[in-house]
Amino acid sequence: MRPEEWKTRILTTSDIKSVWNMKKSLQAVEDALRFIGEGELLQEKCQSLFPSEGNYSFLLPHPAYIRPWKVVGDKWLGCCDGNPPKGLPYTVGVTTINDAETMMPIAFMDAAYLTGMRTAAMAAMGAKYLARKDSEVLTMIGCGVQGETHISAICELNIFPLKKVQIYDVREEAMQSLKKYTEENYGLEVVPMSCVADAVHGGDIVCSVTTCRTPLIFDEMLVPGTHLVPTCLWDIDIKNILHNVDKWVLGNTQSDNWLQRPAAMVDADKVYTDLSEIVCGRKPGREKAEERTVMTHLGMGANDVAVSYQAYKAAIEAGVGFDVQIMS
Ligand SMILES: NC(=O)c1ccc[n+]([C@@H]2O[C@H](COP(=O)([O-])OP(=O)(O)OC[C@H]3O[C@@H](n4cnc5c(N)ncnc54)[C@H](O)[C@@H]3O)[C@@H](O)[C@H]2O)c1
Repeated sequence: MRPEEWKTRILTTSDIKSVWNMKKSLQAVEDALRFIGEGELLQEKCQSLFPSEGNYSFLLPHPAYIRPWKVVGDKWLGCCDGNPPKGLPYTVGVTTINDAETMMPIAFMDAAYLTGMRTAAMAAMGAKYLARKDSEVLTMIGCGVQGETHISAICELNIFPLKKVQIYDVREEAMQSLKKYTEENYGLEVVPMSCVADAVHGGDIVCSVTTCRTPLIFDEMLVPGTHLVPTCLWDIDIKNILHNVDKWVLGNTQSDNWLQRPAAMVDADKVYTDLSEIVCGRKPGREKAEERTVMTHLGMGANDVAVSYQAYKAAIEAGVGFDVQIMS
């Protein structure tokens, strides 16, 4: 083939939404975790770039190579504090998927929507292996984008006999919107609470997905049997919780290198294992009803490339998106 004939599929957010859903995200993320455990998925944590055009912003590559699928890819994730006042999203990103044999680009696609999906799917995978199987009450602290995708991911797992969702946000309109979404889509009772402590009380699975950078959830709030899902991470009392729970599981040691920073002030020896070790069956997840468990994860390229490649395949099958001959 002449290089100018090579086709790269372009996929917009609406293209991806038309062929993709949370159930598929859960499957792609579980596959990625299993491949990591089997040594079939390689990923690097790269340094962020900090441009200085006035606002706090950073650009962070998320590369991964998935050997069984013969693809390699990279998500460029950008975050910019100055965006919301301009009507632009705080988080922006694009993903390139390449054929692993030739490195030729097979897809170029928006990454914002899939970032929301893969993050919640990863959190739900932690709950699948670590939360009590009789969990009935879900707590959601933070009712924004991740609040919605976390409820979707945990419900779509379809393994917990959930009866009630307790929610809290500093914005009343965010709580009302999440209540409507959850009742309409999952038929669960949703109770907006007046403070974090009330929302955590009685929660079997407790998620913290705010943009708050000071602790809202403290060790003493987590009773025996609780599973904590701190996707924001900075809104929990990190050191006391991670040092005191029975099992602290990491998304991925290599990706979660924030542990090495002195500012993290946590003892990496307290980590029980990586989630991929549990998914592969090498280590047990929850063993006792009264265990307090937590899974922390700051995002990894493995999940971005896994969901993006599977979404690309779904788009090809459905005839969605368009091709460009990028080298013509
Ligand atoms: N671990 C990962 O891989 C990963 C990936 C994506 C996002 N995140 C994190 O998830 C968090 C949520 O992201 P998002 O996209 O849903 O943001 P968002 O802005 O859509 O929602 C955040 C919500 O938190 C609420 N909030 C802020 N301060 C609060 C407080 N003190 N008490 C209660 N609620 C409060 C806001 O009102 C808002 O509704 C962010 O911290 C983000 O950095 C983590």
